[in-house]
Amino acid sequence: MKFVLYLLLLCAAALCVERGQLQHIVLFKYKETTTQDQKFKMMKGLVNLKDRCTKPDGKKYILAASAGLQNSGEKFDKGLEQGFVLTFSNSYDRDYFVGLNKTAPYDRVHQDYIKEVSQLVSDVLVFDFNVLLN
Ligand SMILES: *[C@@H]1O[C@H](CO)[C@@H](O)[C@H](O)[C@H]1NC(C)=O
Repeated sequence: MKFVLYLLLLCAAALCVERGQLQHIVLFKYKETTTQDQKFKMMKGLVNLKDRCTKPDGKKYILAASAGLQNSGEKFDKGLEQGFVLTFSNSYDRDYFVGLNKTAPYDRVHQDYIKEVSQLVSDVLVFDFNVLLN
């Protein structure tokens, strides 16, 4: 019984990310002129995409979203301030979200977000991977 509870806790801590799912990591560095209010709004905006983004059939497809502020203390942050991890079922859902191929269907809600945030950031790092191990 204790063991099962422990497993459940571990699973919750890892957001139950499964092998094959795709982790989309995004880091923002903001312009000097960007205010704390704007930064917070953008952070909330990205996390809220989990509930706002849908496929053409109206179904939500972002499995998990989390955000926070850089606080490692190791001085390898390169000035990046906010970090995000979005979990997708697979690379196809990520491709729909990112929308590089404009002849295929893509997420317009995310495009609106990109338009807004691109005016406030000076650098962005994106690193995606399919989960191989966990
Ligand atoms: C873009 O999407 C279209 C329609 O789904 C597809 O036919 C085409 O091969 C895609 N192009 C690239 C470069 O992936």
